[in-house]
Amino acid sequence: FPIVVLISGSGSNLQALIDQSLQGQLNTKICAVISNKADAYGLERAKNAGIPTHTLSHKSFSSREEFDTELQALIDQYQPKLVVLAGFMRILTEAFAKHYDGRMLNIHPSLLPKFKGLDTHQRAIDANEKEHGVSVHFVSPELDAGAVVLQARTEITKAETAETLANKVHALEHIIYPLAVKWFSEERLTFQDGKAFFDKNRL
Ligand code: GRF
Repeated sequence: FPIVVLISGSGSNLQALIDQSLQGQLNTKICAVISNKADAYGLERAKNAGIPTHTLSHKSFSSREEFDTELQALIDQYQPKLVVLAGFMRILTEAFAKHYDGRMLNIHPSLLPKFKGLDTHQRAIDANEKEHGVSVHFVSPELDAGAVVLQARTEITKAETAETLANKVHALEHIIYPLAVKWFSEERLTFQDGKAFFDKNRL
C-alpha cells in the first residue's frame, strides 16, 4: 500500500510508521519522504531506512499556489494511495487539499475541535483543561477541521508543563497514527462526503 509522508521536523511519527512497517504490523510502503526544510531530522530517519527523500523549500517559490503545485507533482510521481502529513508545518491551498480529498491524513496535538493551530499544549494548560490529547483527521481545506478519525487522551496533572504534556502526547501519537494508517490501508477506515467511516464488521 503506497504512501508518501510529508514532514518539516523531527519525524518521530515518521519513525513510528517506519518501525511498524519493518515489524510487519503495517502493510504500507513508504515510497518517499518529502520535507519543506532541508535540515529536518526526519530526512535522516528516512535515509537510514532506505527511503527516497526530497526537499522542496517553500522559500524557492513566490506563492503558496506555486509551491503546492510543485509539491503535488512530486507526490503524484509516486502514485500514493495515501498522503500522510507528519509534522508538516505548512498551510495548504484549497486546490491541494481538494486534490487529496479523502486520501490525506494529518495528526494534530489536541482533542479537536479544541485548540486548532499552534502551541496547543500550553494553550490547554492555560485554559485549565483537565485533559488533552491528539487527533488523527482527514485533511480538508480549512485548517485542522477535517473529519476526525481517531483520538487519544491524557490527563493534565497539577505539575504539568507544556514540555511534559508534549512528551505524553507524542507517545500517544506514535500509537494512534500508525493504527489509523493501517486501518485506511485495509479499507476498514474510509471517507465519504466529508466524513470518516469504520467498517462495523471489522471493529
Ligand atoms: C506532532 O506533535 C504532531 O502532532 C504535529 O507535529 C508534531 C510532529 O512531530 N502535527 P514529529 O516530527 O513527528 O516528531
